[in-house]
Amino acid sequence: MTENVQAILAQGLAQLAATHDTQELENVKALYVGKQGTISALLKQLATLPPEEKKTFGATVNQAKQAFEAALIARREALAADKLAAQLAAEALDITQPGRGQSKGGLHPVTLVQQRIEALFSSLGFEVADGPEIETDFHNFEALNIPKDHPARAMQDTFYVEGSTPEAPLVLRTHTSPIQVRYMLGNEPPIKIIAPGRVYRVDSDATHSPMFHQMEGLWVDENVSFADLKSVLIDFLRKFFEQDDLQVRFRPSFFPFTEPSAEIDVLGARGWLEVGGCGMVHPNVLKNVNIDSEKYTGFAFGIGLDRFAMLYYGVNDLRLFFENDLGFLEQFR
Ligand code: DAH
Repeated sequence: MTENVQAILAQGLAQLAATHDTQELENVKALYVGKQGTISALLKQLATLPPEEKKTFGATVNQAKQAFEAALIARREALAADKLAAQLAAEALDITQPGRGQSKGGLHPVTLVQQRIEALFSSLGFEVADGPEIETDFHNFEALNIPKDHPARAMQDTFYVEGSTPEAPLVLRTHTSPIQVRYMLGNEPPIKIIAPGRVYRVDSDATHSPMFHQMEGLWVDENVSFADLKSVLIDFLRKFFEQDDLQVRFRPSFFPFTEPSAEIDVLGARGWLEVGGCGMVHPNVLKNVNIDSEKYTGFAFGIGLDRFAMLYYGVNDLRLFFENDLGFLEQFR
């Protein structure tokens, strides 16, 4: 009889130990100490035994029951502890791990060059002006003394905006010069501005992109002369390229909106390099924006910001600026 109880207890303890979760544990509990449980059945048997056996056998069964229940409680706690440990491990936050880091962004090389140029011209008293990238034919061409059939339009083939009419075409501006027109229409001389921005042409190769950047300059006042133009531009170029003896050349040229006009060249390691155009604002342009050309004169210039960035940073392919290759761009951070 007693061996039987010990065998049942041993089996019960083994089953408890083999449980993986509380559900299994409750099932094992029912098997032994539940209403129909094996140990409960032994207790029921007691009633049928003679008194002397009842005493010893009863003590044995009760001990077995207590041992089972103690093991049950221990197992329950162990399972709960395991569960908690597993949960903690799963949700673990390893504060000793090195941070993933937030990589800092950086400005685009053309933006950096633009900001540098803006700072240099601000120090000479120029303000920064702005204008729309979708322009009217009037601001982009007509007011700048480039009439409909003028050959200069062929050099500035651009994108026409769908839906605009042939009588009033809208174009993606081909240069920053229309900002001159807008500014002069809205402001009285003295006018002293620079105007950086995106411009568009039907052009694409190693040195031309359909979208590129220019910066316009305009100074209109009484007695502004070609000598002022030269001194401002030479001063600017020498400061920009950090070269006090930089050679600058003004090569006679033609632009419809300036008279006289010149190309601006700088002397580099491989010879003369064109960096922009300039000239004295054409009287027709002043007339188109209602400025008295008898009283006021002015000079204007336009430079390619991308070209300046290429020269400044030694980049040989313009397209690198617009491919969004982070490996390239990160070098300028
Ligand atoms: N708008 C001209 C171009 O894109 C550049 C230019 C030349 C601008 C002479 C000027 C200027 O203001 O005076 O080719």
